[in-house]
Amino acid sequence: MTRSVARPVVCAIATGEDERAAHHRVRRAVFVDEQGVFADDDLDSHDARDDVLHVVARVGEEVVGTVRLFPLGDGLWQGDRLAVLGAARTAGAGAPLVRFAVATAAARGGRRMIAHVQPANQRFFERLGWTAQGAEDYAGRPHVFMTIRLAQPAGHDQAPVLDEPGTQLGG
Ligand SMILES: CC(C)(COP(=O)(O)OP(=O)(O)OC[C@H]1O[C@@H](n2cnc3c(N)ncnc32)[C@H](O)[C@@H]1OP(=O)(O)O)[C@@H](O)C(=O)NCCC(=O)NCCS
Repeated sequence: MTRSVARPVVCAIATGEDERAAHHRVRRAVFVDEQGVFADDDLDSHDARDDVLHVVARVGEEVVGTVRLFPLGDGLWQGDRLAVLGAARTAGAGAPLVRFAVATAAARGGRRMIAHVQPANQRFFERLGWTAQGAEDYAGRPHVFMTIRLAQPAGHDQAPVLDEPGTQLGG
């Protein structure tokens, strides 16, 4: 009998037109077609920034998930547009995307990351070390404002932050 082995999820910053197009296809499928959070498309001015990072999660050749991150100044970063295609959910793509965003912001000198989280996903983020700061309206819908302190990678010139879980790499 042949045992099937789950293929690994690989997260990476999208480079080149094809990867960025795949990133946007996933976002559109989830936030426009599935959730209807945005009527036509979910692009905004942050997508055009020089310092925005568009991330993809691949399983084999297929892009199944996304996250986006960008700096807000003073060591603060925002992570958003976390999305995994419906057919690929609860198979271990979402958590690595969040960890990748956290590790990437930390590696670029970030001290804290924020996210506007849908209430249904609060527990998912808490399990990854994030803390809820309160309810808010965002994109015209109820959300939870959540944050995580970013641990500086070894060798970075700022002192490491060791007092908060969930900032480890990997996934
Ligand atoms: C939220 C989302 C990104 C999670 O992605 P995913 O690929 O299903 O997540 P994972 O498979 O990595 O889940 C990791 C763990 O969290 C659990 N989990 C997943 N979604 C959860 C949720 N909403 N609440 C609590 N736990 C959750 C999984 O069951 C898994 O548990 P395990 O470690 O015990 O097996 C995905 O459901 C999604 O894209 N939703 C639609 C878009 C969306 O809501 N984006 C976020 C906006 S804030």
